[in-house]
Amino acid sequence: MSDRKIFSVVGIFDSAQHLMNAIPDIRKRVNAPLEAYTPYPVEGLDKLLGHRKSPVGGMVLVMGIIGALSALGFELWTSGRDYPQVTAGKPLFSWEAFVPIMFEVTVLFAAFTAGLGMLLLLNRLPMFRHPMLRSSSLPLVTRDRFALAVEARGAEIDVEKITRLLQEFGAKSVEVVEEPAPAGVASPKFFLRTLTAIGIVCILAGFITYWTMKLFPIVKPMVHMLDQPRLNPQSPSRYFSDGSGMRMPVSGTVARGSVPYTIRNQELAGDLVNPLYRTETVLRQGRQAYMNNCSVCHGVLGDGKTSLTKAYGAKPANLVSQSIAGLPDGKLYHVIVAGKNAMASYSAELGEDERWATVHYLRVLQRAANARDEDIPK
Ligand code: HEC
Repeated sequence: MSDRKIFSVVGIFDSAQHLMNAIPDIRKRVNAPLEAYTPYPVEGLDKLLGHRKSPVGGMVLVMGIIGALSALGFELWTSGRDYPQVTAGKPLFSWEAFVPIMFEVTVLFAAFTAGLGMLLLLNRLPMFRHPMLRSSSLPLVTRDRFALAVEARGAEIDVEKITRLLQEFGAKSVEVVEEPAPAGVASPKFFLRTLTAIGIVCILAGFITYWTMKLFPIVKPMVHMLDQPRLNPQSPSRYFSDGSGMRMPVSGTVARGSVPYTIRNQELAGDLVNPLYRTETVLRQGRQAYMNNCSVCHGVLGDGKTSLTKAYGAKPANLVSQSIAGLPDGKLYHVIVAGKNAMASYSAELGEDERWATVHYLRVLQRAANARDEDIPK
């Protein structure tokens, strides 16, 4: 025998019944921890060995409750705070709708706790260096034998006495299992080889993926959304009699947030009040709307110097003239909504705020065109 420490003395039994019969007698006579190795779970063995009750049940319960509460908290935050959205007129906190997710997260937390908690935390797996793995008893156990180990756990044990006891109570053979040799430290060469291997595998995987995609372009990843029958904007369709794929909204459609505009002529619009304050943001918004929609006809400065050719046929108004500068905000707004003579309505292009912001910007252009000495900052 070598000078290594004894890990355990193992007796091999022919059947589960023999093993179970021997345990109580051996427990009475030796004062050392016992462990059994069997080819399949044997009912009642843990009690005979004096193992305490497993805490897995309690852990699963606690983690399940934590899972349910986290799901509830998350859902409260997403649907009540971060993105509050009223669905079918129900209150934001409709707990009934949260139940499926809560259930799933409960199961998720509980299952992971049971699996990982049992394997990693309680059984401390993996144990690649467990002494039993190198013993000659284990191959028997994985077949049809049953083993009982009297473990030393660092203390001195009387090998002779235990061997005799095991044989006395029915063990067919007895093996003395030693502690394994201490683990060697991995050498730099080992690390270098491992890193090189990982590197080569990564590079190979990259090339293989690249060439597979290149040589077999038919294999498209996840294209279900691209392949569905649909109409692209501006494209023709044989489905509709006029051959056009784009349709007008159903008559009477009201855009979200739009307020119907009922004023019929420019005279009546004079009383409308611009609801926006003249802030920098509003003026910037107005300038952008003006540049994108109006400047092509009315000129960048609003002076009516159009960039259209004579083919347009009409003469865009000079928006910085005294007469138009004298119009109230409401009348300018009305022209944007309803158009005037050769000028079409811009209500489809500009939202309500953009129109009022454009009116503010027209005032800026008018003031700039008719600036006085007092306007120059000192
Ligand atoms: C396609 C060219 C064109 C575009 C684009 C255009 N307009 Fe006009 N606009 C005209 C013409 C032409 C007139 C003169 C209409 C008339 O005969 O009184 C006019 C007149 C006006 C008037 C004077 C109305 C009045 O009471 O005399 C205002 C104000 C005005 N436009 C504002 C705008 C604004 C604001 C935009 C951008 C949202 C815009 N226009 C875009 C062509 C255009």
